[in-house]
Amino acid sequence: MSIALQALNIWDLRRMAQQRLPKLFFEFVDRGSEDEVGLSNNRLAIERIKIRPRVMINVERRSQEVELFGKTQKMPVVISPTGIAGLLWHNGEIALARAAAAAGVPFTLATTSVTAMEKVAELAGGRLWYQMYMWPDREMSYSLMERAKAANYEALVLTVDTAAAPNREYNVRNGYSTSFRFSSRNVLDVLTHPRWMLGTLGRYIAEGGMPRFENYPESLRHRITDTKFDQRSLMTQSLTWDDLREVRKRWPRVLIVKGILHPDDAKMAADCGADAVVVSNHGARNVDSSVAPIDVLPEIVDAVGSRLTVFVDSGYRRGSDVVKALALGAKTVFIGRGTLYGVAAGGQEGAVRALAIYRDEIDRTMVYLGCAAIGELNTGHLYR
Ligand SMILES: Cc1cc2nc3c(=O)[nH]c(=O)nc-3n(C[C@H](O)[C@H](O)[C@H](O)COP(=O)(O)O)c2cc1C
Repeated sequence: MSIALQALNIWDLRRMAQQRLPKLFFEFVDRGSEDEVGLSNNRLAIERIKIRPRVMINVERRSQEVELFGKTQKMPVVISPTGIAGLLWHNGEIALARAAAAAGVPFTLATTSVTAMEKVAELAGGRLWYQMYMWPDREMSYSLMERAKAANYEALVLTVDTAAAPNREYNVRNGYSTSFRFSSRNVLDVLTHPRWMLGTLGRYIAEGGMPRFENYPESLRHRITDTKFDQRSLMTQSLTWDDLREVRKRWPRVLIVKGILHPDDAKMAADCGADAVVVSNHGARNVDSSVAPIDVLPEIVDAVGSRLTVFVDSGYRRGSDVVKALALGAKTVFIGRGTLYGVAAGGQEGAVRALAIYRDEIDRTMVYLGCAAIGELNTGHLYR
């Protein structure tokens, strides 16, 4: 039995992840950028909003179900794309996707994963969404969309908030910037974390070598240790709304734009035919002093809530955090680090535990608010 099952909350999973992972991976997951103002601000913004309990309402029968793009899902969260799960746990993306399927929520696979989208679809099942960035070579990005279509992914999540390489100085210090490489700085770090070294790295090596970016086209399918390949070469500063229009033409299924913080951008996404936006500052990993998504959520819901589905993420560690966002009009909350800590602590069991923690905490909060269904939540349940 995994120790992750003993976690009482997401912070416990975080501590367990910290113990098991080499520092360079833990910090890559856990930290923000520059002075990490955004990281604490995301939490403070959520914590500042208070819950206003209601009493004497019969809530014996409750449901967390929400309707998303014509289908019912069991609880109001989605697993965010995080292109590293497979380096935290052997086949971590499959572990996360299976945990999501078991909890009845969608799993979003990031392009930068080390497990191919086809393999995840074959082995995990459940509701699968595919995340990509637009690359300078648009045709390459379109070919990824074709693969996702062929592998039956339900939704495409186009992330638009990473035009420049984020300034994460700890990564440089830890010897993990554009690629992962062993150096005098981190070899001791790896050696002193034998559970990760043997259970994750060792298993990949036994299977034939360092993992590769399996979703990339063959010409770019480098090993994660390949120092000649610079991920920054895939970033583009030329992205415009015309790109979104083109993606809309080519992707007939659900289209979600991730990384919106301004109502005018949300309106543009709607004008270009997107089905949804994720109000997100990328978990405070990009622009350090970026506004907290929960602070701008209400104005974005006001601006486009009648035209598209509005999701939110960045900093959600408790079920009560999720409930606050739902009361402010988010349809569901994307979870990044919460489930990543789970998978890092205990693989699929750890991710299952993380989702169970969110479910229990959401349920308890609903009881205190006298809400039997997610649709009943509204701003009257909050105090700001
Ligand atoms: C380690 C890590 C890797 C991430 N990789 C991606 C990615 O490849 N694509 C993407 O759109 N977002 C990525 N994100 C951002 C998440 O999708 C999400 O927006 C963010 O984690 C939400 O904040 P939270 O971690 O506080 O829940 C990543 C986040 C983390 C922590």
